[in-house]
Amino acid sequence: MAEKPHLNLIFVGHIDHGKSTTVGAIKYASGQISEQEMKKLQELAKQFNRPTFEFAFYADTLKEERERGITIDIQHIEFETPKYYFTIIDAPGHQDFVKNMITGASQADAAFLVVAAAEGVQEQTREHIQLLKILGVDQVVVGINKMDLVNYQQSRYEEIKQEVMKLLKMVGYDITKINFVPYSALKLENITKKSENMPWYTGPTVMEALDQLKEPPKAIDKPLRMPLEDVLSVQGFGTIPVGVVEYGTLKPGDQIVIMPQNIKAEIKSIEMHHKPLPQAIPGDNIGISLKGNVEKNAIGRGSVIGPASNPPTVAKEFLAQIVILNHPTAIAPGYTPVFHIHTAQVACEITEIVEKKDPKTGQTIEKNPQFIKNGDVAIVKVKPTRPVVAEKVQDFPKLGRFAIRDMGRTIGAGMILDITSKA
Ligand code: GTP
Ligand code: MG
Repeated sequence: MAEKPHLNLIFVGHIDHGKSTTVGAIKYASGQISEQEMKKLQELAKQFNRPTFEFAFYADTLKEERERGITIDIQHIEFETPKYYFTIIDAPGHQDFVKNMITGASQADAAFLVVAAAEGVQEQTREHIQLLKILGVDQVVVGINKMDLVNYQQSRYEEIKQEVMKLLKMVGYDITKINFVPYSALKLENITKKSENMPWYTGPTVMEALDQLKEPPKAIDKPLRMPLEDVLSVQGFGTIPVGVVEYGTLKPGDQIVIMPQNIKAEIKSIEMHHKPLPQAIPGDNIGISLKGNVEKNAIGRGSVIGPASNPPTVAKEFLAQIVILNHPTAIAPGYTPVFHIHTAQVACEITEIVEKKDPKTGQTIEKNPQFIKNGDVAIVKVKPTRPVVAEKVQDFPKLGRFAIRDMGRTIGAGMILDITSKA
């Protein structure tokens, strides 16, 4: 097991603002990519006719990602600072792949928000900030990247910092706890060493800011809950479910069940970044090999592992409090958008609007309103169109919060108050 505390850190922000480049740059600048490996990446970048993408290609490994010069799916990368052992989750900024960003954010303890200095705040900067808060990512570092393209100007940095602060405050972050760092990933300025081009900046480098994050409390005493992000098939090991342990612990020999498919198995071995683990605890990003024959296709993203003696809850219907953030018209019973709960994505019907509440006081304003719209907070009954694991927010916060998406945007968010019908 790694001796340093482990943190899951997601890189978010608008498309092309330099998330993947930052990931490659911090690994390289801290000696975690060899010169030889870097040379190979430079050659690859040339081959794909993307000369400045050598750092980004470290994180973007799919052929399509390299051809298009964008990140498509989340990627996990190990990274160490003096204090922490990180699993970096490099999220895509493209608006078509926000669903993959949500999967990543559901696994993260902290986020590094990248904003490009010349472009400033853009649409997915806003959407990602909102989603981070909705999905319970409590700690954020903000990096203002590509400072080389604005002549390392302090005034531009201050301008963007103010704008981002306003957004963070609006969704509920305590901005006094958030570090802002001006840097250039491509030129390695303020990554591990203080930049001579920005003498006006006296705060931490990117590396130091990451070290100032706090270790989140670990919910070891709860029953195991591990939402799956992926299922691999490895020769000699069979089917390998992959994901982050959110609650409880897991060790070889444990009897588990995978829901909603209701598949039982025994844990054979556990690995984190290709190293065996004697026991996994909350926050560990692991792959598991199982005893017995579990079909790879029988389970997938959105399945949840729990103890055989205390299976994850499969919801047929639940009661939730939701807030409508960004819907063009009005929402009435029968509306069926996609709910993103932990790593699951499932169409759910809002079958009943039980009541509308005053967002400030929480008091009931109207019973059974005919519709709700932007800014409204309501208690609703929700029916998933297929079985999905969901828990009361009170019992397992990470499995009880959700984002609601439709028409390519995040239209709302909420939390599960009660599971009214179980499978
Ligand atoms: P998506 O994952 O597709 O959302 O993009 P991304 O945010 O990961 O951006 P990526 O790292 O792929 O970089 C996009 C472009 O910005 C590339 O051409 C990079 O070389 C360039 N870039 C990144 N950081 C810097 C920087 O500090 N300075 C300059 N000049 N260019 C940069
Ligand atoms: Mg990227």
